[in-house]
Amino acid sequence: MCGIIGYLGDREAYPIIINGLKKLEYRGYDSSGIAIFYENGYSLCKTKGRVYELEKKIYSCKIKVKGTSGIGHTRWATHGIPDDLNAHPHVSNSNELIMIHNGIIENYYSIKVILLKNGFTFKSETDTEVLVNLIEYVKKENKFSLEEAVRISLNEIVGAYSIAIVDKYNPETIIIAKLGSPLALGINKKEFFIASDPIPFIDYTDNVIYLKDGEMAILKKGEELDLRKILDNHKLNPIIKKLQINLKKIEKGKYKYFMLKEIYEQPKTILDTLRGRLLIPKGIICIDGIESHKDIFINAKSITIVACGTSWHASLIAEYLLEKLARIPVEVEYASEFRYRNPIVKEKDVIIVVSQSGETADTLAALKLAKNKGAFVFGICNVVGSSISRNVDAGAYTHAGPEIGVASTKAFTAQIIIFVLLALKIGKYRLSINDNQYQSLCKELGSVSEKVDHVLKVNQYIKEISKVYYHVNNFLYLGRGINFPVALEGALKLKEISYIHAEGYPAAEMKHGPIALIDKNIPVVIIATKKVCYEKIIGNIQEIKARKGKIIAIVNEGDIQVSMMVDHVIKVPETSEELSPLVTIIPLQLLAYEIAYIRGKNVDQPRNLAKSVTVE
Ligand code: AGP
Ligand code: GLU
Repeated sequence: MCGIIGYLGDREAYPIIINGLKKLEYRGYDSSGIAIFYENGYSLCKTKGRVYELEKKIYSCKIKVKGTSGIGHTRWATHGIPDDLNAHPHVSNSNELIMIHNGIIENYYSIKVILLKNGFTFKSETDTEVLVNLIEYVKKENKFSLEEAVRISLNEIVGAYSIAIVDKYNPETIIIAKLGSPLALGINKKEFFIASDPIPFIDYTDNVIYLKDGEMAILKKGEELDLRKILDNHKLNPIIKKLQINLKKIEKGKYKYFMLKEIYEQPKTILDTLRGRLLIPKGIICIDGIESHKDIFINAKSITIVACGTSWHASLIAEYLLEKLARIPVEVEYASEFRYRNPIVKEKDVIIVVSQSGETADTLAALKLAKNKGAFVFGICNVVGSSISRNVDAGAYTHAGPEIGVASTKAFTAQIIIFVLLALKIGKYRLSINDNQYQSLCKELGSVSEKVDHVLKVNQYIKEISKVYYHVNNFLYLGRGINFPVALEGALKLKEISYIHAEGYPAAEMKHGPIALIDKNIPVVIIATKKVCYEKIIGNIQEIKARKGKIIAIVNEGDIQVSMMVDHVIKVPETSEELSPLVTIIPLQLLAYEIAYIRGKNVDQPRNLAKSVTVE
């Protein structure tokens, strides 16, 4: 996944690069490194671990970081363990070319064999070091300019990349290129900012160019941007866009971790997602992307939703919503599976892709595949201007604001809100929902943010529960119907930030296997709100109690029956079935957070993960 950054202009490059790297750590934090260029030379520093470790190393080793051009990298390892040698930037054998890379070179091995035969040696296990040496080989063999060597080499590459490369004898030129991985270029008069996303440079410029796949740019200090096609060197006209990002949204404020802040933001983000889309008094739902393609949704025979991780869980909830309210058969697919099994997609089929970041490599590839087969692709993304949002036929932004914690929280509830709106709107078009049900759900949507606000008050009690269970090794999460995906999401939250093994299951499936796990040591979190098979869930609770399992139940306020049977109850306000995931997920997010916190984990940046999975 990795975050890449670069600067070329009149300012000191180091502060821009080091601060930018901190903003890109959500993309990976296995190691980091920088190269700052000066006349005929450069300073290079890289180290395993976070950017603050890099800063410490630069300071303690008194590394010279003066210069007005530079590149930096924060890594999420794909090829080779996270250590100093595999950290980027990577340097070619002659020490002349210095490169950073986000992505995977799939044919790196065959290229490496050729380079080894030609006398090249390698210090690292990375695919990146192979590419920088291929460029050197092509450059020297053919006496090419750097840009031509980069272009020819990239045409030999199978895989995904965004790269920035510099020749130490020509530090006022940086070449960048993109295929698959994201790359944004900020332009301010004649200075250039390169980054995996524009956040590192919004303090300096709001002019951005998002490089498209197959494009490269030659950046020369003080000169106009030179944009080209990698395939045939064809010159292109850059399209400059204006950035609209509010920096205040990217601060932790009074919270210890972004994740906790983002959990607490949900009453507000739900309102932000609804803003301008739900006109309650009249029960009008406005979603431009649906209205302008009304016929496609009216005539859809089925809908396939494609996503990964938490976005996939929100999509499972959408399956219940769309089938119930719009009466359209829905299939939910993991993007990574969908893209590789030659799915049956016909012209005008409706595919919905869901992604917080809008950069997830598998989801992006699934989207492109569906488009190539002639499908109509609707996107639900949080990051404005992201690759997925730029490639869909129509879509709706979730407007949850920047989500920094690696564990997704507010984006999930925002995705559910969009799906409720979609199901209601399409249901109304298809006359599959009666007016009373439509009006009453619209009205309830208008007040659901208050209910979420109310649930957040249970946190004191969740802290107590967390103290009882933070040391266990396994958790089971159960739910039924529309709350089954909530159980999956609760289990994922706990796993990713506390490293406790947790499984989500449909409550009734427990007796087909997981019940064998139950004894007095396993806590079972069970969603037992009214309206969703309440009596059946009571049966499941009895089965767990009979085997001495410990139960934490999410119940509605006023509940007596379940409350008397279980070890802990967390009360949430009553809602309709359709909106219940919006309130039942909140205690599960808080439980995961509190347990991870007591266990002393880095909640925002859990080990081995990254916020944006831009490699497959
Ligand atoms: C969520 O907590 C995860 N970290 C992860 O599963 C995430 O939801 C997944 O990688 C998909 O990301 P996207 O929504 O940005 O596409
Ligand atoms: N393949 C490169 C490495 O392992 C870059 C990884 C990435 O972009 O995630 O260093």
